[in-house]
Amino acid sequence: MPRVSSAFFLVAALCGLAGMAWGSQMGMSGDHSLSPAHAHLNLLGWVSLSIMGGFYALSPRSGWLPWANLILSSAGAILMGVLLPQVLTGKLSGQVMMAAELPAVLGMLLFIAAIVSGLRRPAAA
Ligand code: HEM
Ligand code: HEM
Repeated sequence: MPRVSSAFFLVAALCGLAGMAWGSQMGMSGDHSLSPAHAHLNLLGWVSLSIMGGFYALSPRSGWLPWANLILSSAGAILMGVLLPQVLTGKLSGQVMMAAELPAVLGMLLFIAAIVSGLRRPAAA
């Protein structure tokens, strides 16, 4: 498997582990007020990064694009998990979420660019 795919899966699994610990804590405490932050750490971290890692394993790319995709998408997921609780508890303004949304969206745009560049290559089989 390409190293970038392993790196995607590693960050994804760490987000998944943190998200599960967070979910268990919510379940035990009965306080679900931060559930959107738990949800998006899992959905942008565990789910989206795993999909991207799988794509690069099936359709390897050389160069900077997959790594830039990894850095931006990981930053988006982690910042979402870190900043959203601050916003939900009123400690920070909602506008600060741009710091997570921007890398998440840029990461997705790079992922689209990687998919499109693959479409332009001759089919493997
Ligand atoms: C050990 C694993 C997990 C535990 C204990 C857990 C626990 C929870 C709890 C207690 C809530 C709040 C529910 C509510 O207030 O209605 C919640 C919400 C949520 N969780 Fe998890 N969770 C886990 C893993 C995951 C994973 C892996 C994902 C995604 C891949 C996920 C996605 C969500 C979503 C999307 C919500 C929001 C649901 C809604 O708004 O109705 N969770 N979780
Ligand atoms: C930059 C990325 C994203 C932003 C800014 C965003 C924003 C939001 C917002 C504002 C809500 C409403 C939350 C509430 O009413 O409390 C929401 C809910 C939801 N989003 Fe996202 N989202 C993003 C990415 C994703 C992704 C990648 C997934 C799935 C793979 C997803 C799945 C969901 C689900 C299932 C809900 C309903 C559960 C909940 O209320 O927490 N989102 N999202």
